Parts: sequence; C-alpha cells; structure tokens
Amino acid sequence: MALIRTATELDLPAVTEIYAHYVRHSTATFEIEPPDCVEMKRRQAEILSQGLPYLVAEADGRVAGFAYAAPYRARPAYRFTVEDSVYIHPDFRARGLGRALLSRLIELSESAGFHQMIAIIGDSGNVGSIRLHERLGFRKVGVLEAVGRKFGLWIDTVLMQRALDGTGHAAELGLILKHGTPRTGILQQVADFLRQSGNHRWVGLYEVDRASQEVRNLVFSGPGAPAYPAFPLDKGLTGQAIRQRRTVNIGDVAAHPLYLTAFGTTRSEIIVPIFDDPRNAVVGTIDVESEKLHAFSDWDQVLLEDCAEMLRPVWNLGPE
Ligand SMILES: CC(C)(COP(=O)(O)OP(=O)(O)OC[C@H]1O[C@@H](n2cnc3c(N)ncnc32)[C@H](O)[C@@H]1OP(=O)(O)O)[C@@H](O)C(=O)NCCC(=O)NCCS
Repeated sequence: MALIRTATELDLPAVTEIYAHYVRHSTATFEIEPPDCVEMKRRQAEILSQGLPYLVAEADGRVAGFAYAAPYRARPAYRFTVEDSVYIHPDFRARGLGRALLSRLIELSESAGFHQMIAIIGDSGNVGSIRLHERLGFRKVGVLEAVGRKFGLWIDTVLMQRALDGTGHAAELGLILKHGTPRTGILQQVADFLRQSGNHRWVGLYEVDRASQEVRNLVFSGPGAPAYPAFPLDKGLTGQAIRQRRTVNIGDVAAHPLYLTAFGTTRSEIIVPIFDDPRNAVVGTIDVESEKLHAFSDWDQVLLEDCAEMLRPVWNLGPE
C-alpha cells in the first residue's frame, strides 16, 4: 500500500533523482540538464509558499514518486488555473501510484479553489501519461506539433484539461491576504470582495477590543456607515452564545433579543465570528447584509467561514 503525503525537504534527494532519470532518458520533460537538489528545493518551496500541493508517494519504505500543481502561467488572469506534474520511479511504475498521486492532487487543488487543471504532456507517444490523465477525467484539447527538440528529434506536446470544482473564491481571498498591506487595506479589500462576490448589500468587519470591552467596526463596504460603529462587548455578538459555535446564522440572529438590540437584524443578515484558536476567543466578526430575505446559501456560509478562518492571522498584525 502506498502512502500519499505532502513532500518535505527530506524527500528532495529522492525526488531529484527520480526527476533526473526522466530528464536524462525521456521526452516526458523538456528539460535537458537535470536540476540539482538545491534547485529542486527552490522549486518546491515556491510551490508550497503559494498554497499549492506538492506530494510524494511512499511505497516499500521509499519515495516512489512525486506530483505537484504549479501556476499554469504567470499573468494574473490565469491565477485559477494550475498545471500538474507527476513522475513515478521506474521501479514503481504501473502499480497505481501515478493515479493515487494525481487523484489527491486534484482533490487538494479543488479545495484550494482552483478552477482548471492542465496537463502538458511531453511527447504524443507518452501513452502512460495520456492514459493516466484520461482515467482521471482529463480530455485532450490539442497537440502542439514539433515544439520540442530533444535527443535529435522534434517532439510534440499533448495538451489535456480537466475542470476543477473550485470557484476560485478561496484562492482569491488567499491572494488578497497574501499581497495586501497594511491591515486596514487588507480588510477593506476583503469586505469589498465579499460584497461583490455574493452580490450583497453591505459587509462590515468588526474587531473585539477586550481592553476597552468594546466591539468596533473597522471597515465596511456598501452604502452607508454602520448603524452601530461601536458597542459594548456584553451587548453584541461576541457573548457566550457565539463562543460556543462557529457560525451565528440567520435564525439565531432573528430569534435572540440581544442580537436584535445590538444590530437591528433581519433575516437577510449573517454574522460570522472570527476565532483566535489558541485563546479560544472571538477576535472579530464579519457582518453581511443582503437586500433579499433568505439570502444566504450553504455556499455563502462556507465561503464566510473560510474567510473568517483565513482572516484570523490578520488580527495579529495589529493596527498599522
Ligand atoms: C505516466 C506515469 C506518471 C503513470 O504513473 P503510473 O504509476 O505508472 O500509472 P498507474 O499505475 O497509476 O496507471 C494509471 C493508468 O494509466 C495506465 N498506464 C500506466 N502506464 C501505462 C503505459 N505505459 N501504457 C499504457 N497505459 C499505462 C494504467 O494502466 C492505468 O490505467 P487503467 O486504470 O485503465 O489500468 C508514470 O508512468 C511516469 O512517471 N512516467 C514517466 C514520466 C511521465 O511521463 N510523467 C508525466 C509527465 S506529464
């Protein structure tokens, strides 16, 4: 049985060796000189730092193969499209490891919010790779003829493509959080993004200030400043009730007099607390209002919870 797991630096000598074999002896890759371990480490770090998966398959106590997803192209409109690579040690081929690695890579890329996966397969004659991709739902979208020259031959690339379930929203949020500065700038972009992506009327982000025992609006997106820019901690949505669950949903808000006094909510508002895990305390809330009743689908809730999770480290940045 093979184990599929995220690659670490310790796997790199084996990964480098597997890749070098295919650089030297096959047309599966268009590299001609095998990169050394230092270069493979740089490439791995770059992939992982972008939140993309880099996996190895372990079999018989050895690293038997590796796979990763990399950005398909650098220009920003391509940011929800990834390209896969998968290489199995010659001793371990045709044992299902390629399939296991690529399946996991697809799952992880989907949950990271990517939208399409592309395979650029070196050589029309690479039946193993073409078959593997077909089995996992890729379809052939074209052949670029004679675009490579290796071993004195002209070589084609076969392009294959597979849709991923990701909507791109989590990835978009990830990009905002990674590239935005300073804190208020990030929060403003997040509020704007949430409002536009969900077509909502208004989004506000609040922080909990324990020193002054206050909940305070930091940013908002939409028409009109918040009705309650600041209110006492014990009156708002950060009391015992929300400490005990992850999401305060519309039903809770409408049913609880405390929430009504604090926010004047209707059934078209959703409030999601942001938890600080180590302290098990609420550090902030996301408040989203819509024009419509019953405006929030399961999908909206998932996105907002993901957002609350991703925003957690931003609170630690402190005000600029
Ligand atoms: C292509 C590669 C990744 C496939 O991995 P693998 O572990 O050998 O393949 P699996 O055992 O998981 O097989 C997956 C499917 O491909 C088929 N397959 C694998 N190798 C094959 C081959 N040489 N000829 C025909 N079919 C092949 C398998 O039969 C299986 O299909 P099935 O489910 O219909 O039986 C691996 O052979 C490899 O590393 N090749 C060299 C490098 C390479 O080409 N990488 C891809 C770069 S895009």
